[in-house]
Amino acid sequence: MILILDFGSQYTQLIARRIREEKVYCEIHPGDKSVDFLGEFKNLKGIILSGGYGSVYSKRAIWPDSKIWKLNVPILGICYGMQLIAQYLGGKVVSSKNREFGIASVNLSCDSLLFDGINSKEIFWMSHEDRLLKMPKNFKVIARSENTPYAAIEHVSKKIYGVQFHPEVKHSVSGKLMLQNFIFKICDSKRDWIIKTYIVDEIKKIKKQVGKSKVLCALSGGVDSSVAAVMLYKAIGKQLICIYVDHGLQKFGETERVRKVFGKLFGKNLIVIDAKKLFLSKLKGITDPEQKRKIIGHMFIEVFDKEAKKLKGIDFLLQGTIYSDIIESVSIRDTKSFIKSHHNVGGLPEKMKMKLIEPLKFLFKDEVRILGIELKIPNEIINRQPFPGPGFAVRVIGEITEEKLNILKKADNIVTEEVNKAGLYDKIWQAFAIILSVKTVGVMGDSRTYEYVIVIRAVNSEDAMTANWVKLPYELLDKMSSRIVNEVKGVNRIVYDISNKPPATIEWE
Ligand code: XMP
Repeated sequence: MILILDFGSQYTQLIARRIREEKVYCEIHPGDKSVDFLGEFKNLKGIILSGGYGSVYSKRAIWPDSKIWKLNVPILGICYGMQLIAQYLGGKVVSSKNREFGIASVNLSCDSLLFDGINSKEIFWMSHEDRLLKMPKNFKVIARSENTPYAAIEHVSKKIYGVQFHPEVKHSVSGKLMLQNFIFKICDSKRDWIIKTYIVDEIKKIKKQVGKSKVLCALSGGVDSSVAAVMLYKAIGKQLICIYVDHGLQKFGETERVRKVFGKLFGKNLIVIDAKKLFLSKLKGITDPEQKRKIIGHMFIEVFDKEAKKLKGIDFLLQGTIYSDIIESVSIRDTKSFIKSHHNVGGLPEKMKMKLIEPLKFLFKDEVRILGIELKIPNEIINRQPFPGPGFAVRVIGEITEEKLNILKKADNIVTEEVNKAGLYDKIWQAFAIILSVKTVGVMGDSRTYEYVIVIRAVNSEDAMTANWVKLPYELLDKMSSRIVNEVKGVNRIVYDISNKPPATIEWE
C-alpha cells in the first residue's frame, strides 16, 4: 500500500486516482492522523504528502505524525508536502510575493530516479504562494524552473523527495511517469491491486464480522447500493434484508426495475415500501432547494427506521459509501465551502445504533462498476448515469406537485430513450430533463396554450467537480423536443441548457 496523507489540496483525490490506475493499492488519510494504524498494513511501500492550503511556517500549520520519518519507507512531498519536508528537516520556507499558478517549464536532473526516462525540460503544473528559500540538510536540487530554483529536491542517501509542482494534474505532461517512477522504481510496489482478490478478501472479512447476525440495507437501485447489496448477498445470503423506499421521486419505472432485478435474488428479503403520498405531502408548498433536500433526508430516515424496527435481530447496517464520499468527510479540509447538502443515507447509523458495514468504502466509482460486472449485476444497473439522492425533487424547480412530477418523469424518460437510441448513453456523464415552475404562452393547432417549460441538460465530466455541456446533435435535440411536446401533456416549450460547471452546477437545485 501507498499511504497518502492529505493536507487539504483539491488534488489529493487525483493522486489516489493516478496510483490506483497503476493497479497499486493506496489510501488517503488526514495529514495529521497518527500512523499507528499502519501496524495493520505489513505492506506499506511509501508515503505521499499531498499539497495543502496553509503555510508550513504558520502556527496553524498541519504536521504529519513525526513517526513517519522513522518508518524507513520512501516519502514524496508534493507542493505543501515538499515544504513540510524542507521545514521539518532544517530548510526554510517563506512567503513569495508572486503566486505561481499555471504551467511552468521545469529543468530536470535526469540522474534522479524520480525523473528516470523523462526529458530534461518538461511542463509541470504549479500552484503555490510559498517557496523554499533554504535547502534542508543533506538534500540536493533535482529540478529548477525560472521562478523556482528549488522546484524539486532529493535527500542524498534516504529516499525522500519533494516536488513543488503537481505531477497528479493532467497538465503535467510527464507527471504520470514521475509518479510511476516513485511507486515502482523507488517504492518497489507491485501491480497487484485487482478486483477479484478484493471480492474474495472482503467476502471473508464480512462473513467473519457478521457471523450469524442479520444485515439491513437501504437499497436505492443506484450503482453503489446495488453493488454493495449483491456483494453482501454473496457473503451471507439470506441474512441480508433490503429495504427499498419508493418515495416517488425516482425515474420512470424504477420500482418495477428494482423488483425485477433484485426480487429474484433476494426473494422475500426485498421489502418495498410505498411512501409516495407521504413524501409528496411533506414536500407540499416547499420551494427552497435546501429545505427540499433536508425534508427528503429526514423523511427517508423516518420511513426506513419505522420499517427496520419491525424486523428482529438486526445488528448491522450496510451502506454503499464509496471512496469519494468519505474522502470529503475524513479530510482536514474544513474550509471547503458549502454548495449543496448531498443526501445519501448518511444520517442513518447514528440514529439507528447499528454497526456499519461499508464494503465499497475504499473504491472509486469506476472500480465499483468493475466489481459490479464481476458480480454479474445487469448492465442496466451498473452503467447507469449518476442520479441524485433526492431524485427528481431537485429537478422540479419550485414546488413539487404530482402534476409537475408526472410531466417531468415522462419527459426525462424520452430524453433517456433518445440518448440511448443515438448510442450516446455511455458516452455522456448525465443527460436528463428539468421542469421549471413558470408557464409560457404557446400555440397548438389554432388555440393559445399556457403550459410548462422543460429544460434538457446533458453534461460531460470526469468527476462531477467540473462539467461541460454536451454539444448534442441538432437532430437529436429536435427529436427530443418534438417527442416531448407531442407525447407529454402540459408542455409547450423545450429549452437546452448550455451552461458549464462552474458557474452552474449539474443539477438545478
Ligand atoms: P452538482 O449538482 O453538485 O452535482 O453539480 C454533482 C453530481 O452529484 C449528483 N448529485 C447528488 N448525488 N446525492 C447524490 O448521491 C445528492 O444529494 C446529489 N446532488 C447532486 C449530481 O447528479 C451530479 O452527478
